Amino acid sequence: MKVLVATDKPFAKVAVDGIRKEIEAAGFELALLEKYGEKAKLLEAVKDANALIIRSDVIDAEVFDAAKELKIVVRAGAGYDNVDLAAATAHGVCVMNTPGQNSNAVAELVFGLLVYAVRNFFNGTSGTELKGKKLGIHAFGNVGRNVARIAKGFGMEIYAFDAYCPKNVIEEAGVKAVDSVEELYKTCDVVSLHIPATAETKNSINYALVNLMPKGAILVNTARKEVINEAELIKLMEERADLKYITDIMPVANEEFATKFAGRYFSTPKKMGAQTAEANINAGIAAAKQIVGFFKDGCEKFRVNK
Ligand code: 3PG
Repeated sequence: MKVLVATDKPFAKVAVDGIRKEIEAAGFELALLEKYGEKAKLLEAVKDANALIIRSDVIDAEVFDAAKELKIVVRAGAGYDNVDLAAATAHGVCVMNTPGQNSNAVAELVFGLLVYAVRNFFNGTSGTELKGKKLGIHAFGNVGRNVARIAKGFGMEIYAFDAYCPKNVIEEAGVKAVDSVEELYKTCDVVSLHIPATAETKNSINYALVNLMPKGAILVNTARKEVINEAELIKLMEERADLKYITDIMPVANEEFATKFAGRYFSTPKKMGAQTAEANINAGIAAAKQIVGFFKDGCEKFRVNK
């Protein structure tokens, strides 16, 4: 059984060692394709792979066509918008994610970005504090819950909205559950995005929604760039000089944001949220275990395609 780890953005070495241990203990073989850059290399490497561990790597119909022996793809992470689920199903391939395994890393980065923003990007001038500010958590999944936990330490007032999470679950976590997404944006000084990129959410963070935020508001995005309506956010930030946008996922219009909104816009050069040794170890080893369980016991827990 050949398990291919295909990660254009490699895991920490310690995580690869852990994955190898799991795979070899099961009597399987591990192959590694890191920083491959061109898709052609991926297409070649998947030819004889029975299982695939990936991160944000794009696995589309062309990859499934090339991977004739493939039975399972595990996205070591939460979001699986990079995998063509219909093509996977058509090829009889099981797709899984590893929910929760890298969420603390992403949540910690939210606060790294926020402190950087409220301290005026460390330019030496007086900034503000997070204590006492109203934080809106947009979607209360694994990352959102970790953001809430950390926000308590900062002394923030915490609100959340999640169309798919019952209000009592939010309230039980010591967070105020609001009734609508509009109420969240109207109420909060800071909104942190934790929605997945789906047909429903793409472009949904738009002019009308962000414009509800109070003066001096900050929007922080550690989710996906596709959820932002970039043209509308640019228009709004042109009209409202008080707004800040900080993101871990470089927008398509990064140059325009950076030029027009110097001092109130920041993007990491490369998505850093899950880029910690701990997150790599947790998600990578979970992926390896799920593959072993799939082949040895037929376990399909965490399957995301039908
Ligand atoms: C996820 O969906 O798990 C995060 O966005 C992390 O993605 P990455 O593995 O590409 O860093």
